[in-house]
Amino acid sequence: MPKWTSWARVSVPRWADLMAQRANYKPRTKRKATESVRTLISSAQIQRRIAEMAKEIRRDFPNDPLHLVGVLKGSVFFLTDLARQIGGEISIDFIAVSSYGSDTHSSGEVKLTRDLDSSIEGKTVIVVEDILDTGMTLQYLLRVFDQRKPRRLRVAVLLDKPERRLAKVRADYVGFTIPNEFVVGFGLDYAERYRNLADVGVLTLGTQAKKPA
Ligand code: PRP
Repeated sequence: MPKWTSWARVSVPRWADLMAQRANYKPRTKRKATESVRTLISSAQIQRRIAEMAKEIRRDFPNDPLHLVGVLKGSVFFLTDLARQIGGEISIDFIAVSSYGSDTHSSGEVKLTRDLDSSIEGKTVIVVEDILDTGMTLQYLLRVFDQRKPRRLRVAVLLDKPERRLAKVRADYVGFTIPNEFVVGFGLDYAERYRNLADVGVLTLGTQAKKPA
């Protein structure tokens, strides 16, 4: 009989069995990360407010062709809905920026990562943002755009979180003023997820015990 066959008959106690014999042994419970989203602003409320904002904007500029500049990526959903509600002559463009720092602490330094396709000189420009938070992004963008000599420059944000403001900036059109909570949905992400939610919700992160195997 080959040696390996006899070896295979030897009964080796499993590590788990040995541990279970110890008096104070408790199986280790694994913890898995959990995420939950509580609706803060429903899709119906968002759509109603966007329609109102569109009216306000058109009322302020009844005859101007409006050039909407979306800040990637969060503004995409807001911009497309707003553009369709405003009516009249509308053109759109996008810009992308990144801010240095960790997820929770921005250094405040903003860098342009994708510029506009076309000049804004002489145009009535509406900067469209999903959220105005510390204001560092908007402060940077307004400086950049001002130098490019638009005819008029205005800002529309879906959400405004004034408690977090560091830069002295404000939006001309605000959808909703919200408390200092981590929000996702309608363009806003957590690790690139949740942007496609039709509502805006508050994200809660936690851990949940998994049953031992
Ligand atoms: C968000 C949002 C604004 C910016 C606002 O973008 O879209 O651009 O943060 O924050 P601030 O007022 O503190 O500067 P984010 O950097 O999350 O990128 P994203 O739009 O691609 O999600």
